[in-house]
Amino acid sequence: MSKKHIFFYFITLSFILTGYSQKKYTTFKPGDLWLDNNGKHINAHGGGILIYNNTYYWFGEHKTTGSLGNKAMVGVGVYSSTDLYNWKNEGIALKAVNDTTSMLQKGSIIERPKVIYNKKTKKFVMWFHHELKDQGYAAALTGVATADNITGPYTYINSFRLHPGVLPLNFSKKEFDAVEMIKDRTDKNWKEKVVKGAYFKKDFEVGQMSRDMTLFVDDDETAYHITASENNQTLHISKLADDYLSVTNEYIRVFPGGRNEAPAIFKKDGKYYMFSSGLTGWKPNPGKSAVADHIMGEWTFLGNPCIGTEKEKATTFWSQSTYVIPVIGKKDAFIFMGDRWTPKNPIDGRYIWLPVEFENIKPILKWQSEWDLNYFNNN
Ligand code: GAL
Repeated sequence: MSKKHIFFYFITLSFILTGYSQKKYTTFKPGDLWLDNNGKHINAHGGGILIYNNTYYWFGEHKTTGSLGNKAMVGVGVYSSTDLYNWKNEGIALKAVNDTTSMLQKGSIIERPKVIYNKKTKKFVMWFHHELKDQGYAAALTGVATADNITGPYTYINSFRLHPGVLPLNFSKKEFDAVEMIKDRTDKNWKEKVVKGAYFKKDFEVGQMSRDMTLFVDDDETAYHITASENNQTLHISKLADDYLSVTNEYIRVFPGGRNEAPAIFKKDGKYYMFSSGLTGWKPNPGKSAVADHIMGEWTFLGNPCIGTEKEKATTFWSQSTYVIPVIGKKDAFIFMGDRWTPKNPIDGRYIWLPVEFENIKPILKWQSEWDLNYFNNN
């Protein structure tokens, strides 16, 4: 090897080692492997985005390989980007711990983390779906953590059920008293009783269940917690306290018995939109959408937002909603962010990001195998 060859060999090697060989992305390719600045597939599933200082921060579940891969063995990961295509790994924002006395112990379930920024307290506040170790999905808690720096470390505060002993704004004492309980699995009036609030009443004293969840901060900085409650049968939307660390008593039941999971909210032209899914675990199902003039209701169901083949509509392009990203500096540009789960090897889960389009007031999604942000200028 000549001196010149050795020189180029070392230059190439150092580029590979420092990650600079990584080609910059200029498009989204939904469903493909998506490499971070270290050349590793992004590990931020069931995620959400916080825009801060003109930078996007993507928080999500850090999955691992194999049968424990969907459990919180590591915690919540965070990545940053200024262009939405290229992401820098910023480490673990909230760590699962080795302490068996902590609710956050490794092997518990931490899903769908969302982070918002409180301008008054100057704290970053993370909420997440939390299940306790070895209890499956029975605990149905929502958890809170805070940090002074956006990438963490986040300090865990607590996990809890919501609104013990408190009635929602759109549910009177009279209606509550009239609710009939479900006798057993053979109860023929099961569905009707669920709609009227049988699961709600069952949990009235201990607090309402909270599983798939998201957060939404309105233009006036009021924040809301949106969650699949009542055994995933009914959504609850709660106004958060001013410091975003707890819920107020103001909350509503949305689509009783509607079986919505994976809620994701965005606001356009003063209207609130929601994407959600049905209930089929890690398997995909037809997506759903809804609109409201105020986030605290009334919500109107708009049906499946997907336009495409029967299979695409039946599976939401083989994905489940998790968040909707408002694109910085582009009016009315929103990105649907979904997960294509791979429960056999959770770390390999893919991301389905698609542009949100509109047909009158209905948000719609169409498959794109490759697209970029110019899509919003041309469509
Ligand atoms: C899904 C839910 C995921 C996860 C999964 C567990 O329906 O959206 O976040 O909880 O079930 O099976």
